[in-house]
Amino acid sequence: MSNIEFSKEFINKLLESKRIVFFTGAGISAESGIPTFRGKDGIWNKLKPEELANFNAFLRNPQMVWEWYNHRKKIIHESKPNAGHLAIAEFEKYFDDVTVVTQNIDNLHRRAGSERIYELHGNIERNYCIKCHTYYNEELDFTEGVPKCKCGGLIRPDVVWFGEFLPADQLEESEKASIRSDIFFVVGTSAVVYPAAGLVYTAKRSGSYLVEVNIEETEVSSIVDISFFGEAGKVLPAIIEEVKKFKRNI
Ligand code: OAD
Ligand code: ZN
Repeated sequence: MSNIEFSKEFINKLLESKRIVFFTGAGISAESGIPTFRGKDGIWNKLKPEELANFNAFLRNPQMVWEWYNHRKKIIHESKPNAGHLAIAEFEKYFDDVTVVTQNIDNLHRRAGSERIYELHGNIERNYCIKCHTYYNEELDFTEGVPKCKCGGLIRPDVVWFGEFLPADQLEESEKASIRSDIFFVVGTSAVVYPAAGLVYTAKRSGSYLVEVNIEETEVSSIVDISFFGEAGKVLPAIIEEVKKFKRNI
């Protein structure tokens, strides 16, 4: 099973928590084979966000931006939720108020079975027209170049690019959940991209117990109550195993 040591304090805090938030980033999907953005093999080491993940880049070269998103979509479609996603989904069997707030666009939390998910940076399965905002969520046809809306506008992926606002409803609900949370897990994120990373501080100010799961130290390691350094796909299943020792399935 696991050789991770959990302190009594952590286990007690977890067991007495009613409201749980998992705030996740690219690291939770790394073990599913989806590259992260920063760190050793990070996407942003090789590619420039200013050429790919912003609206002006899309207007300048929509073809190139789409090629990149279609490439990522393919990787995502070939991937499966890993033990980390599945462990988070399993928390719902033992706690009745579990919220996932993710910066990921890959749908893996949904595929793992989590119910309440807020997506701060959009979702790669949706697309919309840049002129009239009509959604085109079916498979797009690229045979005649970048697909266009009936109104003539270019269709773009429904993901948040640098310089853009986050979806207001998702951010608002995430803030509420963070404020209400008794325990707040920060999983597989470098916690440097705002406003998303601000939720960690929101939870902290609200008195939540902060738990980090990451393979290395991050910007928030110094403010969390406890860090577990290891792969999310190992640490999270080990935590749910602990829960099972004390709690019944609901
Ligand atoms: P990053 O790539 O910045 O950070 C990934 C984090 O995951 C790092 O802290 C790694 O140490 C950690 N990590 C890697 N493998 C792990 C594993 N197996 N288990 C646990 N942790 C692991 O990704 P994000 O923090 O998600 O924005 O990046 C935030 C945003 O920046 C993204 O949503 C994206 C990007 O630009 C947009 O696209 C708007
Ligand atoms: Zn349109």
